[in-house]
Amino acid sequence: MQSALAPGGPHAESVASLSWAMFIGAGLIFFLVMSLTAIASLTDADRARWLSGRAVIIGGGIIFPIVTLSALLVYGLLLSRNLVMAGTPALRIEVVGEQFWWRVHYVDSSGAPHLVTANEIRIPIGMPIEFILKSNDVIHSFWVPSLAGKLDMIPGRVNSYRFAAERPGVYRGQCAEYCGAQHALMAFYLIAMDKTEFDAWYARQSEPAPDPTTTFQARGKALFLENGCGACHTIRGTPAEGKIGPDLSHIGDRVSLAAGTFPNNAGTLAGWISSAQHLKPGNLMPSFGNLQGEELRAIAAYLGGLK
Ligand code: CUA
Repeated sequence: MQSALAPGGPHAESVASLSWAMFIGAGLIFFLVMSLTAIASLTDADRARWLSGRAVIIGGGIIFPIVTLSALLVYGLLLSRNLVMAGTPALRIEVVGEQFWWRVHYVDSSGAPHLVTANEIRIPIGMPIEFILKSNDVIHSFWVPSLAGKLDMIPGRVNSYRFAAERPGVYRGQCAEYCGAQHALMAFYLIAMDKTEFDAWYARQSEPAPDPTTTFQARGKALFLENGCGACHTIRGTPAEGKIGPDLSHIGDRVSLAAGTFPNNAGTLAGWISSAQHLKPGNLMPSFGNLQGEELRAIAAYLGGLK
């Protein structure tokens, strides 16, 4: 789900209410102005003379805008009070914008990382989550339309806000600030789940990556390491400790690949490894055109098994 008009939590509800009030109010005022224009231009001059009277000019030109805009301001300020969530957040998540993906750290109150993942954020429902937003390169903007407004990720600066999801669900997020060639393909999924389910997921994610269970997967792991993938990617529990690209320790568990670009399965994994530059030109992952079909399938089988 990705729509500011289909709110999944209290923040997005405030934003949606204000939007509807403005859409409907603007619609009514437009209708009123067009009606007066029609009366002024279609009826004869004598009968439309009242339109240039003092009362209409002062009432419609001064009093009406002051009253309407003041009411809107007060309504907006009251709603924005709901956007502030005081107290200790249930969870702190640092999200770093990268060209063109999302580095995700679950951090403790001191900001020390507990768990590193990428391009997918899972949260428990019904509790305020603090999002700490940073960028490693250019300005990005973090936006999950169904849950909250957008907030920029600015290099050298830390922005943060809190929001909550009321219902379990998969909410799509999208980078909302043009950040380069693949800005449009910089998306992610925010998955809101029951607390117990979330805790189980978190515990599983905190483990090192599982070992291959078949010889085909073991061959994939060997190929992954031989081809230097570990220079950019980390798979915890293996010699792969690169920090440039997304952490792949539990990539098999994610719903999407390449920052929300493809569904995550063996076919898209293999295709992405061989043709990353063809599928998403300008991203930092090179295409591994040297690998044969069988080798790509083995690596995909290994990565797909990292649940
Ligand atoms: Cu990142 Cu647009």
